[in-house]
Amino acid sequence: EMEQTLKGKNVLVSAGPTQEALDPVRFLSNHSSGKQGYAIAKAAKALGANVTLVAGPTALEDLKDINMVHVTSAQDMFDAITSRLDNQNYIIMAAAVADYRPEMVADQKIKKSDEEVTFHFVKNPDILAYIGQHKKENQVICGFAMETQNLEENARKKLESKNCDMLIANNLFTRGAGFQTDTNVVTLLRKNETKHLPKCSKEELGYKILETMKEIEMEK
Ligand code: PMT
Repeated sequence: EMEQTLKGKNVLVSAGPTQEALDPVRFLSNHSSGKQGYAIAKAAKALGANVTLVAGPTALEDLKDINMVHVTSAQDMFDAITSRLDNQNYIIMAAAVADYRPEMVADQKIKKSDEEVTFHFVKNPDILAYIGQHKKENQVICGFAMETQNLEENARKKLESKNCDMLIANNLFTRGAGFQTDTNVVTLLRKNETKHLPKCSKEELGYKILETMKEIEMEK
């Protein structure tokens, strides 16, 4: 039995990709499997927290004794999360949210023709930035960053611009890190700290994140 260090805490985690529809049969998405977010939710549950998991489309099974909320698009995820923010203590955005969506969703399947085709994309809301802007005094926020270059610099920019307490950065090109693997290799950033963590399972990283969030909460 794990020590119930998060008993009485409300923890909201997001996981997986979003799907942005083009028409009834096609969408724009990314390679997120949901494993990282689900692993964090599982760790939070094991530590005694009340856990809400807002998940984009994944192949993973629902977790037991966790409030599962399934969504499809970034806008759905925004609505699901912002309507549940009020009494959350820890919020962890591990989902890979699409930054853009097609401006129009065709009602019918788009037909092939001899012409080339051009789609116009509009911006999705930034969920993490919204959470940061509306942060309450008792809330601790952890974002993620998926980078392919200048990991630390780009991640630190996201930490600051989105008003996060903490950010976990992973690089797409590091072996054993990022999408679909059972492990991750990350850099943990806080206001005055940068820590390169050794490779670990996504669940071990979940415990590390939650432990650090508790430290941040106690320092507030
Ligand atoms: O699901 P897995 O296969 O296990 O893979 C795990 C992971 C690679 C998806 C995960 O470790 C990860 O890095 N998640 C964040 C991916 C991402 O979208 O990063 P980003 O740098 O584009 O976004 C930065 C942060 O803003 C993220 O916390 C993201 O959730 C959030 N965001 C981004 C765009 C948007 N419109 N709204 C957001 O809230």
